Amino acid sequence: MTLGHPELVAAIASEIANSGPIPFVRFMELTLYHPQFGYYMRPPESGAERIGWSGDFYTSSDVHPILGNALAKQARQIDALLGHPDPFTVVEMGAGKGLLARDVLAAIHAQDDSLSRRLRYVLIERSPAMRELQRSNLGPWLQEAGLVTWIEDLGSLAPASVVGLLFSNELPDAFPVHRIQMTGGQTEEVYVDYDGARFVECLRPLSSPDMQQHLTRLNLSLPDGYRTEINLDALGWMKQVADAIGRGIAITIDYGHTAQDLYNADRSQGTLLCYYSQLTSEDPYTRVGQQDMTAHVDFSSLATVGEEHGLRVTGFTNQMSFLMGLGVEEMMADLEPESPEFRAAIHLLRPDGMGSTFKVLVQHKGIERPELDGLKFKPFFGEALGLARGTGQEASGLYPASSHSPLAHSLRV
Ligand SMILES: C[S@@+](CC[C@H](N)C(=O)[O-])C[C@H]1O[C@@H](n2cnc3c(N)ncnc32)[C@H](O)[C@@H]1O
Repeated sequence: MTLGHPELVAAIASEIANSGPIPFVRFMELTLYHPQFGYYMRPPESGAERIGWSGDFYTSSDVHPILGNALAKQARQIDALLGHPDPFTVVEMGAGKGLLARDVLAAIHAQDDSLSRRLRYVLIERSPAMRELQRSNLGPWLQEAGLVTWIEDLGSLAPASVVGLLFSNELPDAFPVHRIQMTGGQTEEVYVDYDGARFVECLRPLSSPDMQQHLTRLNLSLPDGYRTEINLDALGWMKQVADAIGRGIAITIDYGHTAQDLYNADRSQGTLLCYYSQLTSEDPYTRVGQQDMTAHVDFSSLATVGEEHGLRVTGFTNQMSFLMGLGVEEMMADLEPESPEFRAAIHLLRPDGMGSTFKVLVQHKGIERPELDGLKFKPFFGEALGLARGTGQEASGLYPASSHSPLAHSLRV
């Protein structure tokens, strides 16, 4: 098993030699986002790809355009709720190869109505290599002046300037996380050292008071030996999302849980996972810079930070219910039940797979309690997030597929 990308390993080892062991969060930051050698930052080796069927992992838009179609449909409803603003802005953050952007743009432009003329699609992507792929996959849409633009980061948007939709798919799971471990009733932080041949862990006091503050707010009582992650970047990011939106909706799609489920006894070793060539591993200290690294998202904390900054929870659901609410059954009506396209779309919906592991957090600002089709069928709502202010709705657990439809049969609902 390789230790990793040689130049990246040398760069991390050199930082450790200069400063001593580094917090895991710094190790993950360098692994994924070192400006030259980080996993996401350098172009893939020739002929290879990071995201996709032949890459290390795939995401929804590699599977089928239905998520893009559903988001476009949701955007159309949001546009109507906002009174057809000009421009109607869609901000997508962490767009990877740009396939979801391509699908959303195509679905919105499939109807020649005023939205397609008022639409401004803004991409925010940290990796220059990914931005390059986005440019190439969005080629046809770049001909239309001003339709698609890139900005450096959320902070470049003027406060409350977004009127429209701000969304991401699999973004906060890719933020570097702190790792903590309970030892003798104390919370310690995982640091990474280099012994000349391998990266090794050691435990140290917490590197930032923000972590203790966050843990106090979560009011967790974790047993000795319990290990988990804290994603402080995701909290800062959610504040930026709230600040950027003037009137509109934020949709965050990612794998994750409510805080109650995430910090549960069953997850006593946390959720950090690495992906290489479609295989998962729990060892972040091999293939350094050659494998993806992720941690499940704490949606309760995202919702709480949003609420504190004026972004109210509209609802919280899973990908299957979100897609069902937006009419996936009609979108799939023309597909042959045995066709590869049908099977690919089913993959996104499976209650024992992407349909339930992926959650959808919907938040709003500057609109009164919007009713959105993506939240029509909800297995759990705002109160599942453990917020003080629930949405007052009840869980229904109902799915709309008729039990005789090919879709229902494939999903066994
Ligand atoms: C797991 S990939 C998801 C890609 C894409 N959304 C999809 O569904 O295929 C995460 C993406 O987020 C980008 N990213 C990570 N942190 C970011 C940040 N702070 N700002 C913008 N993009 C970021 C990564 O470079 C990568 O392209």
